[in-house]
Amino acid sequence: MSRGRLLLLLLQFSCFFVHRCLSDPRATEAARVCSNTTALPQDRQTFVGYFLAAMDTLTPLIDTQRYAAVVNGSGNNTVYAFGECMKDLTRTDCNLCFAQCKTQVLRCLPFQRGTRGGRLFYDGCYLRYDDYYFLNETLSLQDMSVCGNQTFVGNDTVFSANVNHLVRNLSLEAPKNDGFSVGSVNKGNVTVYGLAQCWEFANRTGCEECLANAVAKIGSCAPKGEGRALLAGCYMRYSTQKFYYNSTEPVEESNRGRHLAITLAATSSAVAVVLVIATVVFIVRKNLRKKRRERKQLGALLATVNKSKLNISYEILERATNYFHNSNKLGQGGSGSVYKGVLPDGQVVAIKRLFFNTRQWVDHFFNEVNLISGINHKNLVKLLGCSITGPESLLVYEYVPNQSLHDYFSAKTNCQLLTWEVRYNIILGTAEGLTYLHEESNTRIIHRDIKLSNILLDKDFMPKIADFGLARLFPEDKTHISTGIAGTLGYMAPEYVVRGKLTEKADVYSFGVLVIEVVCGKRNNAFSQDSHSILQRVWSLHGTGRLCEAIDPALEGKFQEEEASRLLQIGLLCVQASAELRPSMSLVVKMITDNHEIAQPTQPPFLNSSSAEVSQNIPPATYYSQPESYTNSSGNDITNSGIEPR
Ligand SMILES: *[C@@H]1O[C@H](CO)[C@@H](O)[C@H](O)[C@H]1NC(C)=O
Ligand SMILES: *[C@@H]1O[C@H](CO)[C@@H](O)[C@H](O)[C@H]1NC(C)=O
Ligand SMILES: *[C@@H]1O[C@H](CO)[C@@H](O)[C@H](O)[C@H]1NC(C)=O
Ligand SMILES: *[C@@H]1O[C@H](CO)[C@@H](O)[C@H](O)[C@H]1NC(C)=O
Ligand SMILES: *[C@@H]1O[C@H](CO)[C@@H](O)[C@H](O)[C@H]1NC(C)=O
Ligand SMILES: *[C@@H]1O[C@H](CO)[C@@H](O)[C@H](O)[C@H]1NC(C)=O
Ligand SMILES: *[C@@H]1O[C@H](CO)[C@@H](O)[C@H](O)[C@H]1NC(C)=O
Ligand SMILES: *[C@@H]1O[C@H](CO)[C@@H](O)[C@H](O)[C@H]1NC(C)=O
Ligand SMILES: *[C@@H]1O[C@H](CO)[C@@H](O)[C@H](O)[C@H]1NC(C)=O
Ligand SMILES: *[C@@H]1O[C@H](CO)[C@@H](O)[C@H](O)[C@H]1NC(C)=O
Repeated sequence: MSRGRLLLLLLQFSCFFVHRCLSDPRATEAARVCSNTTALPQDRQTFVGYFLAAMDTLTPLIDTQRYAAVVNGSGNNTVYAFGECMKDLTRTDCNLCFAQCKTQVLRCLPFQRGTRGGRLFYDGCYLRYDDYYFLNETLSLQDMSVCGNQTFVGNDTVFSANVNHLVRNLSLEAPKNDGFSVGSVNKGNVTVYGLAQCWEFANRTGCEECLANAVAKIGSCAPKGEGRALLAGCYMRYSTQKFYYNSTEPVEESNRGRHLAITLAATSSAVAVVLVIATVVFIVRKNLRKKRRERKQLGALLATVNKSKLNISYEILERATNYFHNSNKLGQGGSGSVYKGVLPDGQVVAIKRLFFNTRQWVDHFFNEVNLISGINHKNLVKLLGCSITGPESLLVYEYVPNQSLHDYFSAKTNCQLLTWEVRYNIILGTAEGLTYLHEESNTRIIHRDIKLSNILLDKDFMPKIADFGLARLFPEDKTHISTGIAGTLGYMAPEYVVRGKLTEKADVYSFGVLVIEVVCGKRNNAFSQDSHSILQRVWSLHGTGRLCEAIDPALEGKFQEEEASRLLQIGLLCVQASAELRPSMSLVVKMITDNHEIAQPTQPPFLNSSSAEVSQNIPPATYYSQPESYTNSSGNDITNSGIEPR
């Protein structure tokens, strides 16, 4: 390895640590504004399809350039979308914030009344979509300010004067400085911190105009300790806490590393040797300091973790996977990549390398791992251990050899292996696994992500549910639905998508989708633009008493008609729009096994846009923008409404 490359590695390594110590994506919601424009019902699904495509295009662009604008669709079903991160965030934090933002903007989706626009202001990033071109808009009627609910404790005359001084200064500095400015004012023993940023599409005039409006809106927040102005063209925030990273800290870790390394590699080799030594010393010292700090923070907990049998050393897992070699990669999930590995004692395991930093809540994480690893059921993938003291977090699972259901249904190659008996057992086993999680284990566990790719098959083609407990491992929804919305949305219960309400019945819904997919041999694409979704097809066949027509033709008629129809009917029961109408998982198991009577499903599956029932069960779109008092705000009248942004 050349010295240059060594340096590059070392530097990236050190930046990695520097970054980890500071990581905070500020993925907290300041406000969500769903617009109230309406669409014709028949246009809704098309629009949502374009919306999802736009989100998929936006994500990698945000990763590389930290802001992006995309268009998808055509005619009066065009989706315009724009996303941007605050300029002080690191690239990783930017991605984290945006991933979270993306999941929450779903709440503005046109499920009901055809809402066709939404803005989500986070403290670290911004996302907006609409059905019209808005990139020339820096002011709008929905612009607002959101003030904290805590009044500053101290001399509030001084505080307010400092706030006014600061926001005025920021509004003048930012347009000159690439649309971004942070700073603080400290007078009379009172410090106020602030940040102002214009969205990338605003030109200098637009930026100045927007920030001037922001100053007017935010000014009325003082003497509250926090204030935010949220506008179509810019964002401004002040706080008594220093919430931003200033420029001495790494803004773009990898670029910096690369830049520095290239410069260094070009210098003479003697100098390079000295520099290598200096860098090594620097890194070692930095690590020592970091270790000391961490030990102080985590104290006794880490000692427990290290002693626990559940904590497997990072080095061992690294070696087990041949240093996470690509040939060992089994797949890529929403929360990280999975590798096959062989432990020193010969045991074959699956190792999940988590994309997300668990360091902030090691205690929570470890407690949950402890708890989940105690769960033993034939239809659940066993969690064997974890590594949380190494540079990244890893989870170690038992290895399940026969891939996931998704692999069979998407590749269509080994479909003949999934005979009727196998499919029946898969559905029954999955139902039993879920029953255990919901009703029988000591801890109530909602899976939250039941889908084909999370049902693994063992050597006898018995199902094992993977990734249960991830929902509990990651507080606040950070990972689960964040990546690949489109892949998971087809499984999500309406009340969960729209209101974020998570109960066992959300799993029942996803299970229903899965049953229908397995019996019909087709994946559910909730927003397929060409034809009706498989759920709708099965629902209408049920109405005309021809359920058998939906059954997978690949089975070539080798199935028991009555059994298959019963399963489809159970599937339909599970995907009813109202959670209360869906059966519990233990009842589902009874219906599958002992000829227990199966009720008639009374509601069509979610997203049947022509159904009147659905609209009765879900309140109108404006209801979802939370808190409610934001919805009709337009201007200063709510600036002192006493709503604390989270
Ligand atoms: C939609 O919002 C605008 C202003 O934001 C308001 O004037 C209008 O009355 C609202 N329309 C409906 C149907 O709520
Ligand atoms: C919309 O997005 C899809 C998927 O990314 C892409 O194939 C298509 O070309 C896009 N359409 C338009 C009009 O941009
Ligand atoms: C949408 O566009 C089509 C033609 O592109 C037009 O016939 C239709 O009336 C439009 N619908 C609305 C609501 O504007
Ligand atoms: C700046 O953008 C506004 C719209 O936001 C536009 O009206 C104006 O002409 C632009 N100014 C320049 C100099 O491009
Ligand atoms: C923005 O552009 C659209 C289409 O180009 C136009 O209809 C609209 O009036 C413009 N808005 C502003 C505020 O300039
Ligand atoms: C606040 O500070 C100002 C200036 O320092 C001073 O004139 C004023 O009396 C102080 N008010 C209170 C309530 O202490
Ligand atoms: C803003 O504040 C900075 C430092 O506090 C100062 O250097 C700068 O002159 C101020 N700008 C204006 C326009 O007041
Ligand atoms: C500054 O404020 C702190 C408490 O907020 C107080 O303890 C300290 O004495 C103050 N210093 C001065 C110089 O007023
Ligand atoms: C950035 O932070 C460092 C120390 O944390 C401080 O010395 C420096 O003045 C800060 N710069 C700005 C612009 O706030
Ligand atoms: C301020 O808001 C937070 C959360 O938004 C809430 O928990 C707290 O009770 C509020 N405090 C007051 C005094 O209203």
